[in-house]
Amino acid sequence: MKRGNQVYEGKAKIIYATDDDRHCIMYFKDDATAFDGAKKGTIVEKGILNNRISTTLFTLLAEKGIPTHLVEVLSDREVLVKKVDIIPVEVVVRNIVAGSLSKRMGRPEGESLAFPIVEYYYKDDSLHDPMINRDHVLAFSLATGEQIDRAREMALKINDILRQYFLDRGILLVDFKLEFGLFGGEVLLADEICPDTCRLWDAESLEKMDKDRFRRDLGKVEEAYLEVCRRVCGTDGEL
Ligand code: TMP
Ligand code: ASP
Repeated sequence: MKRGNQVYEGKAKIIYATDDDRHCIMYFKDDATAFDGAKKGTIVEKGILNNRISTTLFTLLAEKGIPTHLVEVLSDREVLVKKVDIIPVEVVVRNIVAGSLSKRMGRPEGESLAFPIVEYYYKDDSLHDPMINRDHVLAFSLATGEQIDRAREMALKINDILRQYFLDRGILLVDFKLEFGLFGGEVLLADEICPDTCRLWDAESLEKMDKDRFRRDLGKVEEAYLEVCRRVCGTDGEL
């Protein structure tokens, strides 16, 4: 598949056109940002590790019946994906209190939730991705009721699958963010699932193994991503 013009550059990935207008190429960068780009840095080989981790998880989810944008892996930093229209709603699923939920509710990080919480955020960095609810999604035509309900249903199923998959590898899936896209009328899982977009804690030590190490200057960022890759994919990042 030939890489065409760059069509979009995000904070962690670049999207390129291909010679087939139904597909595009997603390229994983090493750039890391936090707090809507206010904090910038590089995590060495992050692009390779995130591509490997995300591809492994998307393949697992597809096998379990979740439709995704993934078509094929092209290289250590590139995947061929279906060209979706991204729904501008970030869907967050939480199993354990952490991050913004801890601040919002005044509860300590680490408290288990009685059931998974699903939250929606309007995907707009200039507004700092504000939290919204289903009514905002419908009133501002960000998605139809059917589409957002399908995304929620998929998010909860993804949580069931991934929570067990990570636990089998000694990792607690604390929370994570998903993005969905429309392709020929169907809602597909898009974007990526990796330590940039999840909170992952070692199940025994509760040590953080995700982007919070970068956000909070905890050190050993590369080591944490590499360890997630080892446990999730059984490799150090080679394809
Ligand atoms: P939060 O606790 O900061 O709201 O984050 C919830 C989850 O969403 C966490 O796993 C990190 C992920 N996330 C992103 O992937 N991108 C973002 O821009 C933010 C703020 C969080
Ligand atoms: N991805 C967001 C940013 O770059 C925030 C985050 O992951 O904390 O700024």
